[in-house]
Amino acid sequence: MAGAATAGSVREALGASIDALSAVGVETPSLDAEVLLAEATGWDRAALAAGPEREVSPAAARIFGEMVRRRLRREPVAYIVGRKGFRHIELEVDRRVLIPRPETELLVELALELRPRTILDVGTGSGAIALAIADELPECEVTATDSSEAALEVARANAQRLGLAERVRFLGGTVPEGEEFALTVANLPYVAAAEWPSLQPEVTEWEPREALLAGPDGLDAIRALVPQVGTGTLALEVGAGQSGAVVGLLRDAGFVDLQTRCDLAEIERIVWGSRG
Ligand SMILES: C[S@@+](CC[C@H](N)C(=O)[O-])C[C@H]1O[C@@H](n2cnc3c(N)ncnc32)[C@H](O)[C@@H]1O
Repeated sequence: MAGAATAGSVREALGASIDALSAVGVETPSLDAEVLLAEATGWDRAALAAGPEREVSPAAARIFGEMVRRRLRREPVAYIVGRKGFRHIELEVDRRVLIPRPETELLVELALELRPRTILDVGTGSGAIALAIADELPECEVTATDSSEAALEVARANAQRLGLAERVRFLGGTVPEGEEFALTVANLPYVAAAEWPSLQPEVTEWEPREALLAGPDGLDAIRALVPQVGTGTLALEVGAGQSGAVVGLLRDAGFVDLQTRCDLAEIERIVWGSRG
C-alpha cells in the first residue's frame, strides 16, 4: 500500500528531470529541477537537499511532471511558477510581460540614492521598477506607463496584491503629456534585430517581442523617448555595448552630468543624465 501511495524519492525525481532538461539544452538544469520540485511539493530547496530519500507523493509528482514538461519546451521557470522576486517584492508574471531581470534593480538603487519627489517609470511591464520604488521610497509619487494594455493589467494586479495600488498611478502610453518628473527611469526594449536569433528560446519563444526588440541597432525605443522627457534626470537601462551610443544621444539632447554604472557582469548597464 505504501508503495502505491508514493511516486519515488526526491533524488529519483530530480535525477530523471535533470537529465532530461540537460538533454534539451537548459542552462541550469539542477537549479530549475529543484525550484520546480520545491514548488510542486511545497518543501523548500534546503529541505529537498536535506532529504533526498524522502518520498514524493503521487499528487506532487504529477504536478512536478507537468512543470518539467513545460520546462522541456523551454518555457521560463518564472512563467511556470507564475512569479519572480525583484528587490524586496514578488511579482506575478505571465507571457504578457517581460520577466524582471536582476540587473534592472540598478535603476531602483539609483532612485534610492537620488530620492526624487516624483518618478516616472516608462515601460513598466510587470510594474517591477515602479512597485519596488513605491515599496522602498514611501514619500515618492510614482507614475508608471506602458504602451501595452496587457502589461498594464499585470502591473495593476501586482500593485493591488502588494498593497501598493494607492501609491502608483498606471497610465497607457509613454510620457504623460504636459507632465514633468524629477526622475524618469526606463527599461525599454533594446535588443537589435540581428541579435534576436542568438538569444535563448526562453526569450524568443516565450517573452513578448514588443518588450524586447527595438530596431536595427536596438535603440529605436530609447531614441523616441529622449525628446519626450522634459526637465529632470533620465536614467536608462541599456544592452551590452550600447552605453556609448546612449551617452551620445543624451548629450545631443542637452543632458549633462552623464554617468554610467556597471552590472555584476561588468557591463555598463545604466546611463543617466539631467537637463534643467
Ligand atoms: C524590457 S520590458 C521592461 C519591463 C519592466 N520595466 C522590467 O524592467 O521588467 C519593456 C516594456 O516597455 C514597453 N514599451 C515598449 N515600447 C514602449 C513605449 N514606446 N512606451 C511605453 N512602453 C513601451 C513594453 O510593452 C514592455 O512592457
